[in-house]
Amino acid sequence: MLLIKNASQLITVEGGIRRNKEDYDLRIIEDGAVLVEGEKIVEVGTTRDLKGSAETEIDATKHIVMPGFVDPHTHLIFAGSREDELYLKLKGYSYLDILKMGGGILRTVRATRKASKSQLIIEAKRRLDYMLCNGTTTAEAKSGYGLDYKTERKILEVINEIEHPVELVPTFLGAHALPPEYKSGEFIEYMKEIIPKIKDLANFIDIFCEKGVFSAEESKEYLEEGKRYGLVPKIHADEICDIGCTKVAVDVGAISADHLVKTSEESMEYMAKSDIIAVLLPATPYMLLSHEYAQARKFIEHGIPVALATDFNPNCYTESMQMVISLAVTQMRMSSEEAIIASTINSAAAIGKEKVMGSIEPGKQADLIILDAPNYMHLGYHFGVNLVEKVIKKGKVVYSKLQTS
Ligand code: NIG
Ligand code: FE
Repeated sequence: MLLIKNASQLITVEGGIRRNKEDYDLRIIEDGAVLVEGEKIVEVGTTRDLKGSAETEIDATKHIVMPGFVDPHTHLIFAGSREDELYLKLKGYSYLDILKMGGGILRTVRATRKASKSQLIIEAKRRLDYMLCNGTTTAEAKSGYGLDYKTERKILEVINEIEHPVELVPTFLGAHALPPEYKSGEFIEYMKEIIPKIKDLANFIDIFCEKGVFSAEESKEYLEEGKRYGLVPKIHADEICDIGCTKVAVDVGAISADHLVKTSEESMEYMAKSDIIAVLLPATPYMLLSHEYAQARKFIEHGIPVALATDFNPNCYTESMQMVISLAVTQMRMSSEEAIIASTINSAAAIGKEKVMGSIEPGKQADLIILDAPNYMHLGYHFGVNLVEKVIKKGKVVYSKLQTS
């Protein structure tokens, strides 16, 4: 048994997914305690309520305890990096200009095709270490830097085989960019043929639906095919233009639509009629040197559940959900309460895991983080540092910050 006690605030986030503005309530217990047995939470209350002793006790005085972050959109597996492209962006080249020049995704595809599985595992583990010490206990991970059967399979195998405390949920993103050896229509046909061969290695299927990449019609066709083989659709939509991708997402019953910087009022209204989750990725415009962020306030006003994610990839190189929360608050005007909910229970829902993680409730997986913060408002306020002191994954302490004082 493990008992965490004396938390200045225990942020339980109890209750399911939040849609409406007034539902973004953190359900805080002052002087809180959590009792864990094996991998699960067994009791939650005040320190006084949870009197019994446990073999291991953690004193969380002057700290907050909250659910581990769930990062529902990452491109974890790739070879190399693209730091030099930041200079091109500084010179005024756009994301799609760089892609057309053979850089961007296509450059990472060339490097990833050449990399061995063991090389990809080594690089991914370093990234997962960063995620873990920054408080992420579960992450979705996409393929998409293969764009051929062999490499897409290799990436999905790595996601499934990697051993690390951060739990991974795999997504097949075969349609991430058009490789130079294909014409658009032919490539989608080829990707559709791959689906039955990789279906057992992924939970979700995703596509980059964008002007100049894959059209709304192609996206529909490809996602429908994925559904036929049991994969749940997700979509990269409205990052640069709104070409009707969120409508496709709603029509195919996608669990989430992600990016959504350019989503029109009309598209939001259509989304609001469904259960789709808006996964917002503020670190991406930040690294594209753009001043335009997704309109989080409008999504919330429409009653569309909002989740946050890093979009970790070689263009947007951050593993930190704390950084994302800070951007969500300062650039998208989300409150700390909204940003925390969007990074825990709503982000768990964006990967179909809201029944097992994302809140501190008896019966749920004991995925907890202890932060050096007297109250939750420090998230989004105290920025550019790592507030996480301990990470507990499935009941085990898997990270502890070195104490120097
Ligand atoms: O979600 N926009 C498309 N895909 C990724 C970027 C991948 C890359 O640039 O390597 C994204 O931002
Ligand atoms: Fe992405």
